[in-house]
Amino acid sequence: MTATKGLEGIVATTSSISSIIDGVLTYRGYNIDDLAVHASFEEVIYLLWYGRFPVQSELDQLLRDLSESAAIPSELVEQMRLYPTGTNTMAALRSAVSALALYDETANEMSSEANFRKAIKLQAQLPTIVATLSRLRAGLEPIAPKSGVSIAHNFLYMLNGEEPSELAVKALNQALVLHADHELNASTFAARVTVATLSDIYSGVTSAIGALKGPLHGGANEAVMVMLEEIGSFDRVEDYVQTKLDNKEKIMGFGHRVYKGGDPRAKHLQKMSQDLSQLQGNTELYDMSVRIEEMVTGQKGLKPNVDFYSASVYTILGIQRELFTPIFAISRVSGWTAHILEQYENNRLIRPRAEYTGLTNQKYIPIQNR
Ligand code: ACO
Repeated sequence: MTATKGLEGIVATTSSISSIIDGVLTYRGYNIDDLAVHASFEEVIYLLWYGRFPVQSELDQLLRDLSESAAIPSELVEQMRLYPTGTNTMAALRSAVSALALYDETANEMSSEANFRKAIKLQAQLPTIVATLSRLRAGLEPIAPKSGVSIAHNFLYMLNGEEPSELAVKALNQALVLHADHELNASTFAARVTVATLSDIYSGVTSAIGALKGPLHGGANEAVMVMLEEIGSFDRVEDYVQTKLDNKEKIMGFGHRVYKGGDPRAKHLQKMSQDLSQLQGNTELYDMSVRIEEMVTGQKGLKPNVDFYSASVYTILGIQRELFTPIFAISRVSGWTAHILEQYENNRLIRPRAEYTGLTNQKYIPIQNR
């Protein structure tokens, strides 16, 4: 038995949800480039869950279901008030989603209908949890979700307590579409491993949030912003990046396990970052990002991934960096739940082997003789 480090190149399951073939990402056979420009996030959720686009009445029903499920239990809000201020937002989100199961009496029901209902709840409630966490951390009262608006609109409304601009809703909708699913990425794999034991959907999503939090995965978007803040201004980019490259340190937001020719999502976020910063009349963050890209790609051949330009996009939208990875989760929960439902439909315990590299033939020695 020989281990493959990081399971690189190992095909661990079959799935009909999303694919990466020759550097092209598709959801249910639809190219992400097409979806990013034309689809609403809610249409994409339906597509991921049901395998096809909804007709208008089906989309309306999904919007109603999401609206009706968006409020979170008051007991959970009271719990969240007790979380230490300044705690990591992804740790808080992971705890809150885990606690959500305690207030759902159907948490352990395993029928397909019950699991679909819980997928709707999770998708509807994650934005409310993230906005509530953000407001409580700022010493503000949470704002209840409103009905009849998109997830992007509702999230920005609950976050800021005012109606968002059309432009901000459009940009966030596109970011949510681009992050919705990504084949067998680390957090989706974590979710599938968890539910393959026939554990419940909340456990699967909690595991996924734990995996997404890491800086080699979803946590990279916040790490990119930390780097941009550290650099501070355009004239300091060159020195900063060169030192990192000379020291063989990783530059966050670059590289990918699967894409070697570039992440197809990155160009959409780059364009969004450029458009938004031009509209805002301040392009420094965008210009800094472009210069970093030129240096990292020029010297290392590494291309930006989905996280790199998300950092400037969210910042220009006025979103604090502590919320970048939670926003990733608001989107990716659509993919996680689609994969969990798919796993339940054709389940087998996921239990690989390990190549043993430890000592052998050891004999027990009584403690007084060690
Ligand atoms: N900056 C500098 N060097 C890098 C980077 C980077 N961002 N990424 C990879 N490299 C180098 C490695 O140091 C390594 O060099 P070596 O062969 O000289 O040792 C080589 O490229 C291969 O890198 P690995 O880390 O082995 O590649 P792997 O496929 O295991 O990792 C990963 C992929 C984790 C994305 C990696 O590129 C990375 O750490 N990037 C930065 C973090 C990041 O942006 N993560 C988000 C990914 S997208 C997502 O999850 C949403």
